[in-house]
Amino acid sequence: MSIKACDVKESEIANQVIKYLKMYCKKGAIAYVHSFGCQLNVSDGEKIKGILSSLGFKFTDDYKESDLILLNTCAVRESAEDTVYGTLGNMKKYKKENPDVIIALCGCMASEPKTIEKIKNHYPFVDILFGTSALSQLPKLLLEHYEGNKLAYDTKEYNEEFGADYQIRESNFKASVPIMFGCNNFCTYCIVPYVRGRERSRSADVIVHEVEELVAKGYKEIMLLGQNVNSYGNDLKDGMTFAQLLRRLNDIDGDFWIRFMSSHPKDAGTDLLDAIIECDKVGKHLHLPVQCGSNSVLKRMNRHYTAEKYLETVNYLRERSEGFALSSDIMVGFPNETEEEFCDTLKLVEEVKFDNIFTFIYSKRSGTVAAEMEDVTTDSEKRHRMERLLKLQREVATENYKRFIGKTVRVLVEGESKQGEGWLFGKSSAYTIVEFKGYKSLIGTFVNVKITDARNWAVSGELV
Ligand code: SAH
Ligand code: SF4
Ligand code: F3S
Repeated sequence: MSIKACDVKESEIANQVIKYLKMYCKKGAIAYVHSFGCQLNVSDGEKIKGILSSLGFKFTDDYKESDLILLNTCAVRESAEDTVYGTLGNMKKYKKENPDVIIALCGCMASEPKTIEKIKNHYPFVDILFGTSALSQLPKLLLEHYEGNKLAYDTKEYNEEFGADYQIRESNFKASVPIMFGCNNFCTYCIVPYVRGRERSRSADVIVHEVEELVAKGYKEIMLLGQNVNSYGNDLKDGMTFAQLLRRLNDIDGDFWIRFMSSHPKDAGTDLLDAIIECDKVGKHLHLPVQCGSNSVLKRMNRHYTAEKYLETVNYLRERSEGFALSSDIMVGFPNETEEEFCDTLKLVEEVKFDNIFTFIYSKRSGTVAAEMEDVTTDSEKRHRMERLLKLQREVATENYKRFIGKTVRVLVEGESKQGEGWLFGKSSAYTIVEFKGYKSLIGTFVNVKITDARNWAVSGELV
């Protein structure tokens, strides 16, 4: 039987689990939930906390204080997996001393078939394992565990709509809302399509309702999430597109900003770009991962666009929206990347003038197509290219951020800044980090800041 998220409180299974928890939780039902990886995983972690909370759990940041340890894992790089196995290794002693503690593994690694075998063979103290589409099965798995199943697991794909009813959000002014799950793109280096399955879009009515509720509760920033948000709707029968969804969300009354990530350059059509420019609540920033500037490498990566097409998109935005901000993911050292191909990436970075880039050295991910490619480029060459890319980006960003000096920008205040006593930071519509002096009570509100100074990763100024 599958439990819908909305049924957790009333379900027979939940009642039985709660009885067991009372018997076995020595610390009074305390859970440690740790999410690795991207924002989608963090959002899943918040939903898992919601389910656990409805079973009576409270939460801690110290696993040594807990009755249940849940690692919500990322599989994007093998080093991410090594981190999880290292963490599990560290927890072995705690489990030995506290045999009633439950250790659970979920997230993207848990959706890989080889993980179950590895856990059974090398980490037999793990009690529960479930995949990214089986969050709602957690109460059932807890029950199976208490009824004697050595490793209770479920990695099936459940098609039920798993909404936000139970989500325990970290912030009371910033909320993420997944609009779709999975990915159909199969970039040759990437494991995500294998662990998150094919694209599934949530219904626009459900998303709009969820955002209306969040805005009514006072949330000021709504981050729409998906591996490729701009292919949103391709699988829906009603013809809804991401551009139309943005316009519907923009029509919701209230003072709030809409952001989204990630977008794929191959699906960034003018209908979407126009919506971003015209919708006043949509941030004037696009995170558009280009990966690299070489057409031959883009082809080997199976990305389905060229550097020229990417630049066309960038120019379209910049011609229509002054100072429009772009950020990107860039990968260095894809198998057999030549010096010339790498220089195409440097050229593109110079031309686009990204405000911010997230950089990665290609890392071989077993299970992907690229993992089978011979690679003659040495690791030290790859590291050297990365240093050259970072140096260039620092120069570009230093120039870029000067465009804000003298301007007054609206900022959503996020917290205290490391800059020093009395300093706060927030983000502008262009997703620029803005630092300024102000009272802590401003956190979670919009303010105006006049920019007086710029660095290569942030700007600072004075409250207006
Ligand atoms: N869906 C998003 C990206 C998800 S993964 C998109 O298409 O943009 C986030 C980033 O991790 C990717 O953009 C890529 O730059 C990086 N990445 C993925 N697999 C990688 C690998 N095997 N080695 C190095 N970086 C990788
Ligand atoms: Fe991975 Fe490509 Fe899908 Fe992004 S679009 S998740 S990089 S396969
Ligand atoms: Fe990692 Fe899974 Fe996100 S592999 S990057 S947590 S979708």
